[in-house]
Amino acid sequence: MDSIIVTGNGPLSGQIPIAGAKNACLTLMPATLLSEEPLTLTNAPRLSDIKTMTTLLQSLGAEVAQMQGGQVLALSSHALDNHVADYDIVRKMRASILVLGPMLARDGHAVVSLPGGCAIGARPVDLHLRALEAMGAELDLRDGYVHARAPGGLKGGIFEFPIVSVGATENALMAATLAKGTTVLKNAAREPEIVDLAQCLRRMGAQIEGEGTSTITIQGVDRLGGATHPVVVDRIELGTYMLAPAICGGEVECLGGRRDLVGAFCDKLEEAGVSVTETEKGLKVSRKNGLVRSVDVVTEPFPGFPTDLQAQIMALMCTAEGTSVLEERIFENRFMHAPELMRMGAKIEVHGGTATVTGVDHLKGAPVMATDLRASVSLILAGLAAAGETIVNRVYHLDRGYERVEEKLGNVGAKIERISGQ
Ligand code: UD1
Repeated sequence: MDSIIVTGNGPLSGQIPIAGAKNACLTLMPATLLSEEPLTLTNAPRLSDIKTMTTLLQSLGAEVAQMQGGQVLALSSHALDNHVADYDIVRKMRASILVLGPMLARDGHAVVSLPGGCAIGARPVDLHLRALEAMGAELDLRDGYVHARAPGGLKGGIFEFPIVSVGATENALMAATLAKGTTVLKNAAREPEIVDLAQCLRRMGAQIEGEGTSTITIQGVDRLGGATHPVVVDRIELGTYMLAPAICGGEVECLGGRRDLVGAFCDKLEEAGVSVTETEKGLKVSRKNGLVRSVDVVTEPFPGFPTDLQAQIMALMCTAEGTSVLEERIFENRFMHAPELMRMGAKIEVHGGTATVTGVDHLKGAPVMATDLRASVSLILAGLAAAGETIVNRVYHLDRGYERVEEKLGNVGAKIERISGQ
């Protein structure tokens, strides 16, 4: 297994290009299952999770071709010859459940294994299933698989999500595009990835209103056509790289960055004393003088502070002035990076869903273990600011969500290298 070695090396300077969003691409790709015509996605990120979704779609009979080094994905589902999403693929990635709604909506039947993914709490899929049931799906859970049928096709319905779920909103939104009549999704997720999906589906001929608000209304159509759609910028990759100069000083421009994608996060950076400015090409982040101040963070659905940036901001708080309280409200058990940061000298106390971080003068490099995708990058960020060498082991999680991380950070002056394992 590969490791990454980071050595604290002082301030950073330069530009980092931000890729297309992993989480948007993972929901845009299954949208191909809704149509017999081709769907082309541009600005796709080159990540192992995208390969996993490619393998899953191909196993169902879809064609997926990579062009321009993987930045363009040409998808076609003119004939689906398999409606079973197998456990061996699905267990690798929770987003695999997103093939359920589209397959069921198009062909009236689908069998999908219950998913795996990052080990951050229980993460059930009950809301995906309940939303589809509200559209008339008949579901049966047997042998670790969801067996779904909609003999006369899905029918429009009203469904209010009891809690906000990004994935369940996406599954329901895709399914509703081909359901007969009108579907209203209440308490829907408002994340930029949902807006991106709705825009793509509209390009394919879907009738959708209200994406980006908590009520989405979908008027079902008989069929969807083909489309070409650019994947929205990855706000989590953006926030992660914005933290690099915040942690070790200097000035970095994140190319393609937009404040509307990371508003609550920018507010926290500024409160901590880090400067964020909008430029023609993106967002420029600089920390030139003095210590960063501690800030308190509560993770919430968009437009709140994203859970996917909680581990990374914790790395910043480890050397901030004062004490900060980080409250994780989206996932249970999402502080697995805390003990690893403590191995580097951080002072952190975790009680349930709350972590209290007391800033220390400096962190010290240490061997640490990446436990999930965002945890692994938080350890790299911490390593950038630590004295000496930090070895981050088990970086396969990192490759699920960050493309060319060594190159992107190396180009702005970080001392970082990958050691290939067997
Ligand atoms: C997506 C993102 C993930 C991000 C998360 C929250 C993708 C591929 N992944 O995950 O990176 O951390 O949004 O922003 O886009 N829940 C249920 N039942 C369900 C579904 C969810 O109880 O059927 C719960 C979850 O356990 C969690 C909360 O709802 O506590 C939010 O999860 P959700 O928004 O669904 O996350 P994902 O779509 O899995």
